Amino acid sequence: MQYGYFDDSRKEYVITTPTTPYPWINYLGSQEYFSLISNTAGGYCFYKDAKLRRITRYRYNNVPLDLGGGHYYYINDNGDVWCPGWAPVKAELDRYECRHGMGYTKITGARGGLETEVTYFVPLNTNAEIHKVVVKNTSGQKKQVKLFSFVEWCLWNAWDDMTNFQRNYNTGEVEIKGSVIYHKTEYKERRDHYAFFSVNAPIAGFDSDRESFMGTYNGFHNPQVVFEGKPSNSVADGWHPIASHCLEVQLEPGETKEYVFVLGYVENAFEEKFESKNVINKKKAEAMIEKFSTTAAVDKALAELAEHWDNLLGKIKLEHEDDKLNRMVNIWNQYQCMVTFNLSRSASYFESGIGRGMGFRDSNQDLLGFVHQIPDRARERIIDLASTQLEDGGAYHQYQPLTKKGNDEIGGNFNDDPLWLVLAVVAYIKETGDFSILDVMTPFDNDESKSTPLSDHLKRSMDHVINNLGPHGLPLIGRADWNDCLNLNCFSTTPGESFQTTTSKDGRVAESVMIAGMFCYIGDEYVTLMEKVGNQKEADRIRKEVIKMREVVMKDGWDGSWFLRAYDDFGKKIGSNENEEGKIFIESQGLCIMGNCGTEDGSAIKALDAVEERLGTKYGLVLQNPAFTKYYVEYGEISTYPAGYKENAGIFCHNNAWIMCAEAQMGRGDKAFDYYTRIAPAYTEEYSEIHRTEPYCYSQMVAGKDAKRHGEAKNSWLTGTASWNFVAISQYILGIIPEYDGLKIDPSIPKKWDGYKVTREFRGDVYDITIKNPNHVSKGVAKMIVDGKEVQGNIIPLAGDKKTHKVEVVLG
Ligand code: BGC
Ligand code: NOJ
Repeated sequence: MQYGYFDDSRKEYVITTPTTPYPWINYLGSQEYFSLISNTAGGYCFYKDAKLRRITRYRYNNVPLDLGGGHYYYINDNGDVWCPGWAPVKAELDRYECRHGMGYTKITGARGGLETEVTYFVPLNTNAEIHKVVVKNTSGQKKQVKLFSFVEWCLWNAWDDMTNFQRNYNTGEVEIKGSVIYHKTEYKERRDHYAFFSVNAPIAGFDSDRESFMGTYNGFHNPQVVFEGKPSNSVADGWHPIASHCLEVQLEPGETKEYVFVLGYVENAFEEKFESKNVINKKKAEAMIEKFSTTAAVDKALAELAEHWDNLLGKIKLEHEDDKLNRMVNIWNQYQCMVTFNLSRSASYFESGIGRGMGFRDSNQDLLGFVHQIPDRARERIIDLASTQLEDGGAYHQYQPLTKKGNDEIGGNFNDDPLWLVLAVVAYIKETGDFSILDVMTPFDNDESKSTPLSDHLKRSMDHVINNLGPHGLPLIGRADWNDCLNLNCFSTTPGESFQTTTSKDGRVAESVMIAGMFCYIGDEYVTLMEKVGNQKEADRIRKEVIKMREVVMKDGWDGSWFLRAYDDFGKKIGSNENEEGKIFIESQGLCIMGNCGTEDGSAIKALDAVEERLGTKYGLVLQNPAFTKYYVEYGEISTYPAGYKENAGIFCHNNAWIMCAEAQMGRGDKAFDYYTRIAPAYTEEYSEIHRTEPYCYSQMVAGKDAKRHGEAKNSWLTGTASWNFVAISQYILGIIPEYDGLKIDPSIPKKWDGYKVTREFRGDVYDITIKNPNHVSKGVAKMIVDGKEVQGNIIPLAGDKKTHKVEVVLG
């Protein structure tokens, strides 16, 4: 069942009912000001950091669903109160539509001969969101209605705001000037900032105190002022500051009126820092308000935003007979990659924005999905991440975006972390050809006095693995590798918590076959990079280590039919046929094969067949099997989940992509694409009632075959699934692969495909690539013609002339 449809020409998903199976959200902003908005206008906004600079308030885990707060509009049409986004009043609408597009959301509601359309977006280079409100009288009579806006301020620190009431109920301060409501509460130490909410029309009144607006015991759904049709002109004094304008709107039959609301944030704006603490400098706000004072200016900003996204997404364009595939590759998967770039794992409808900052492994992997869109910002991100690395090559697991400092509370010791940095840097250089990044002096632990060139950081990443090998010569897992819940040394990933105190006599010697696979895969990449920069000695040194690691993997990391997952702290196998539960794990199958372990002797194929047989379901591949049905104290969090959920045999979409890559690498394009379609959102659209989360973005996890709610997704948006699936489809399956010396063409596709076209912008040139598959093979380039001339091999040589080049590829 569907709750809407894709409008590809506008790059929108159009939701046709407010009662989607779960709130379906979108993200506004991609620089410093961000906003989350659901299809019924729920959500909140913040500046840079969802925890430390929260602008509007949201209550999580709320009942009813998605009534935790929002940027709402209310209409009072002669006593009939309703909202264009349906919520929070939930009066039935004659027509409802929500269009989530690239960086904007347009919600339209109609009732009783009145249509109201609200377009929400954050203009480029602006610390504000615009709400363009269009009210149209579709009835035959003159109408006189009241329009109320509404936002509730958060007192900046989102965690403190929801916990420290004894203090915070005393601090709220606002100021009203004309049609602008300023929120100037300060948070503890001086902040030098304020927020404001304005409208470009005279107002009939306002409210800035929540209790006065709603009534003490009312909710968002029945605010007293709105129902009475009379603003109370309340000025907040402590308690809960809000901002609500009331406008009187008179409309002739058929007439339309347009308003521009600006919800903005201003930094460094107190007049005299200490002397006159209450005097804010309104100039910056006034300039923003002025800039967007007409609908023409707003429409222009919207057009600029659309152009911005067209440019970003236009770097890769697929023309395929499968529309679902086109919309995933051309629009939504790339869009989600940008969202994960911006937000990492901080703020979504499943992440509270107060829990996590930017993850080291997460952000490095996210980069693989957006580096082609914004290489400059990828470069900056790499340096930010590497600056939180530690001198021994380890890394802080997370950093806070506002301070860019490593998070001490969480610390480090996740032993896969350092390797992802190497992969990100390799991806960046292959995309841009910018080797100079390797020379950037980069601090350890943000301490400038401890800076070395980035290349040295990469070396230390590799050495961190080599210096931390366990009894079998496999990498020590540390607190956990990619699988946060496999806590084999009995450390929890929650700071301060530990699962048990018993460890083996040597203590904390659990080893990870997954990191071993990563070391081979990323190690090969590192060796090539070192050769490219002429550091043969370093290339040879690591090549030897990779060869050695492959031998160890095949000797002690191979279980006969698939790769083991790990050895626990007591030296017992995990992910082995010998185990009663958790016999086979997905991660080591994907990464060991990507690391070329067992790819020559048939082992890799055996492992992939075992994956299909034991982990396959119609909704994707489960993480391991059989699911744990009891708690294994020596495994940690993984076995605490009910069978079929999360890391305990859920369909963890991130690692499904590694199997797609492995299948494609082994030439099995049919399998690779089959797995792709099992989880790609556009293909889940038709069973949205089961899947439940947005059909236009990946979710982290879908309940596995052991779960009661098999097929139901959770944790949409902020997941490494986005970038890895983009890598899997664009590079491994469609086979358009950035290399140091040019674009490599190496598809691995379903045999039945006749071909497809890809336009790829690469280092300033454009390549128009037509791929033909006359013999219906999966893999192998038989012939490649570039600008009319046949080229040997399958790498398009770099033209470097900023022109468009025609490339014809024949598979066979
Ligand atoms: C979840 C993981 C997540 C981790 C973050 C665990 O409870 O299952 O998916 O990465 O928390 O700390
Ligand atoms: C989500 C975390 O963000 C990611 O870092 C981790 O690898 C996966 N969960 C798997 O546990």
